[in-house]
Amino acid sequence: MSLDDRNWDLTDDQEELRLRARQLAVEVVAPRAAEVDRTESYPWDVVEALREAGFMGMTLPETLGGAGRSFLEVALVVEEMAKECGVTGRIVVEANMGAVSAIMTYGTEDQKRLAADLVLGGDKPAICITEPEAGSAASQMTTRADRHGDRYVLNGKKHWITGGGVSRLHLVFARVFDEQGADEGIGGFLAIRDENPGLVIGRREPTMGLRGIPETEVLLEDMEVVPDMVLVPPSGFGRGFAELMNAYNSQRVGAATVALGLAAGAHDRAVDRTRAREQFGRPIAEFQGVQWMLADMAIRLEAARSLIWRAAASRGPAGSPFPDPGMAAQAKVFASEAGIQVANDALQLFGAAGYSRDYPIERICRDVRMFTIGGGTAQILRTVVASRVLGMRLPQERGGFLTV
Ligand code: FAD
Ligand code: COA
Repeated sequence: MSLDDRNWDLTDDQEELRLRARQLAVEVVAPRAAEVDRTESYPWDVVEALREAGFMGMTLPETLGGAGRSFLEVALVVEEMAKECGVTGRIVVEANMGAVSAIMTYGTEDQKRLAADLVLGGDKPAICITEPEAGSAASQMTTRADRHGDRYVLNGKKHWITGGGVSRLHLVFARVFDEQGADEGIGGFLAIRDENPGLVIGRREPTMGLRGIPETEVLLEDMEVVPDMVLVPPSGFGRGFAELMNAYNSQRVGAATVALGLAAGAHDRAVDRTRAREQFGRPIAEFQGVQWMLADMAIRLEAARSLIWRAAASRGPAGSPFPDPGMAAQAKVFASEAGIQVANDALQLFGAAGYSRDYPIERICRDVRMFTIGGGTAQILRTVVASRVLGMRLPQERGGFLTV
């Protein structure tokens, strides 16, 4: 069956999963969302509830204690969480995608077991790619891992690392140099905060939204990593960047889903509000100008959901590579931009109340704004899509393919 033929009716089991997620989101996550934002504090109590519900590490294979769930099933859970709290949606993403996906795809059995034990215990791993001088141009990272005898020594600075100071497991991307100083390519290095003294948490960013998860610098100061903790993709460090980024595509689908969930939450609230709020002696939902806004919002959400589910379902069982980075990229571009638009329209429909911190809409607008940036900007992801459309590599560095 091709993806185009796939019937998107969810199975009874998937519907049950979604309902279970919804219940937890309403009963446990929603009452904490505003406080988490206001106090900028990581919701450990919510994480514990996610852990008890089996949502931390739900994609891990059953042999490692997980539930062997698919990315589509994670998307169902993430959307429900994000309808109430973007931070909680992101925690579920990072406890199943991102670093977890890379480790499950390329890790040794011991590395998989280590990651699984931490995640099932409630850890949301951090993935450390971005540097001050290498954001979109991630392949130009300068953090180095120098081989010294039986270990690697890492030095460099990462920033905007989600979970800095709360995450224990870190997957750090670094440029690898052999003992002679030759550049071998890019690899992934596993380190556990507080067990590896060279992993130092730096400044926390004062963020616009998603304030319940710290975004921090992560400094690698002569951080020693033994070979057992090095994530070497199958074709070695030479293709390491491409292969690690391939595993990272799942995180892009996850980020798209958080944007979708936030926007869907805003839309639901706008529907309720416009039914209840009266002006000119009748509910504002009776005005066609309002109805068409609600309709456009619903259409955007449905289109975003379709792209996300299609991308999520395109990947095979846990541990297999992502077949088409373009699908993850297009889902994230569309969902992040639609999410911003839908949340903004919801604020408009709330009138002045939308602008008040007494209501959740302004928080949703601040939270959803992130998703055209983190995890690859909308511009960079359009380049990924264009590369598929044109069937061409599209190197962005000056000179590109040309010999100068
Ligand atoms: P720049 O690369 O400096 O881009 C600035 C602008 O220029 C953007 O609009 C961009 O689209 C545009 N631009 C740049 N190059 C091109 C081009 N070739 N063509 C067209 N336009 C271009 N990173 C991690 O490693 N781990 C994390 O956990 C993590 N979490 C994050 C969480 C948040 C809340 C945020 C905001 C960021 C996070 N990041 C993380 C970093 C994120 O991945 C980077 O911010 C992103 O890749 C963009 O890099 P930059 O901010 O340096 O922007
Ligand atoms: N999935 C699979 N492969 C990928 C990939 C992805 N998401 N992104 C890059 N690659 C592969 C490319 O296909 C290419 O392989 P090739 O040599 O076989 O053609 C290789 O990696 C290098 O990519 P290229 O596009 O030549 O690199 P570049 O130096 O021009 O930089 C990127 C472009 C990849 C760095 C940029 O597109 C990007 O993704 N930046 C955003 C970084 C990001 O998302 N950070 C999030 C941190 S949380």
